[in-house]
Amino acid sequence: MKHQRWLRLLGIALGAPAALAALAVATGLLLAEWRVHRRVDVPVHAVAYRDEATVLERGRYLYASRGCADCHGGNGGGRTFAQGGGLTLAGPDITPAGVAGAYQPVDWVRTIRHGVTPQGRALMMMPSEDYNGFTDDDLAAIVAYLRSLPPQSGRTAIVELPLPMKAMYGFGAIPDAASRIDHAKPPRQAVPEGVTLRHGEYVASMCVGCHGVGLVGGKIRGGAPDWPPAARLAAGEGSVMDHYPDADSLIAMFRSGKRPDGSVVQVMPFDSLAQMSETDVRALHLYLTAR
Ligand code: HEC
Ligand code: HEC
Repeated sequence: MKHQRWLRLLGIALGAPAALAALAVATGLLLAEWRVHRRVDVPVHAVAYRDEATVLERGRYLYASRGCADCHGGNGGGRTFAQGGGLTLAGPDITPAGVAGAYQPVDWVRTIRHGVTPQGRALMMMPSEDYNGFTDDDLAAIVAYLRSLPPQSGRTAIVELPLPMKAMYGFGAIPDAASRIDHAKPPRQAVPEGVTLRHGEYVASMCVGCHGVGLVGGKIRGGAPDWPPAARLAAGEGSVMDHYPDADSLIAMFRSGKRPDGSVVQVMPFDSLAQMSETDVRALHLYLTAR
């Protein structure tokens, strides 16, 4: 009798961690369902549609150099940008044939700047915190360009996460952009393009999603488990900018995807960064080495 009781207690003790882990995952998945379907209300001010040639050209440049093409494809028709280990991520078609075909002016702003769909759903894996800093002019330019694209297949987004990652999302350990953005912040004032600190700071606003607020680097939340941490770009101990003494070395890294010593830099969206203009990269370098 006594033995049996001990055995039973032992069984409970051994089974408990596994049961608790299963319970945690199940709770995380429930929370993830709630989180995906929660409604996010953000104050949005519309940006008027434009169609001048210079605006379209600016939009083409921003689309190609700020990451959009990496996840939505060069023609806007959608692209699978991450796969493996139970993870599949694909940006949807954002030409007029796709999900944005029915957008009103205000919907573009809500999606790109705030990371929230017209239905009030927080977008997954879409790095709107990098685009929250777009000036109204630049936002209008991207929208003009997207509206001018030839319609593609209309494919929808794919966001399939492995169960542990989904559970982590549920617990808030992988926050979506909508929960990180300060939605009340007014849009930035336009900065004249040039090799200046202010313009460099503006360009660097697309690096915060991965390199963190203040560009201090560290583990990328929501990144794949095998991703190396993002480098520290901010001044101070361990700043990687010590390896980039002049703007030319940073330009070379953006174009080649390789460090000055020839080794490959992981994770960075080089399809896009290679398209960045010399002015933008020189301004970035000035800003990143000035602090
Ligand atoms: C890291 C990949 C990534 C980058 C970079 C990215 N997107 Fe997305 N985007 C996504 C994913 C994934 C979705 C679908 C997310 C979902 O449905 O939860 C999406 C959705 C969208 C949508 C449709 C939202 C809806 O109504 O369903 C638009 C519009 C969009 N992105 C525009 C852009 C623009 C413009 C840029 C560049 C300024 C950009 N994206 C950069 C991954 C990305
Ligand atoms: C999708 C995430 C992502 C984005 C966007 C991104 N980075 Fe990175 N970056 C990383 C990661 C991860 C590393 C570390 C790579 C490694 O260790 O191989 C890195 C490394 C670097 C390095 C150091 C390379 C070296 O010599 O080791 C520099 C410089 C850099 N990034 C600059 C930038 C700038 C500037 C931007 C914005 C224009 C940017 N990154 C945007 C993820 C990103």
